[in-house]
Amino acid sequence: MFKKLDILDEKDKRLRKISDEVIFPISNEEKKLIKQGIKELTYSQIDKYAEKYDLRPGMGLAFPQLGINKRIIIIVHEVNEGEFDNYVVINPKIVSHSVEIIAAEAGEGCLSVNRDVDGHVPRHARVSIEGFDEDGNPLKIRAREELSIAFQHEVDHLNGILFYDHIDKKKPFFDEGEIRLI
Ligand code: NI
Repeated sequence: MFKKLDILDEKDKRLRKISDEVIFPISNEEKKLIKQGIKELTYSQIDKYAEKYDLRPGMGLAFPQLGINKRIIIIVHEVNEGEFDNYVVINPKIVSHSVEIIAAEAGEGCLSVNRDVDGHVPRHARVSIEGFDEDGNPLKIRAREELSIAFQHEVDHLNGILFYDHIDKKKPFFDEGEIRLI
């Protein structure tokens, strides 16, 4: 049986809190939510399941979106058609980043934001992330392009930031040549 996660809407104040560092070991309940999160994000990117379970496509999820203000993020990245890399990072930190700025040309979306928001979100083209896996082993990940955007989006959630906070209201779209659009 597939049961959908309860994902908070953008209006919920819990999305605006700074989340707490996780102390290991994590609970079985947390492990279960991580598993469910990976499954739901994966299904959401496979048409057949997205339709069957009425899932909006998403590649990332942060624990505060589940109403749990702990520093845990999940990313499911489709590397090839139907082939996914999963990332679970606990207490993630962006330890370095490129000077180069990019933005998703079509804008960003969020499972907590149930509407289209127009505008480019400036992000670092490349980031290095350090953190821990579910068992508390240290992790280091280098991410570029779409995956880099996903990590920055999810780490923002842990700090109470939503993607549209980064959109310039007076000038929501960058001009050609200002930054690289992907
Ligand atoms: Ni989001």
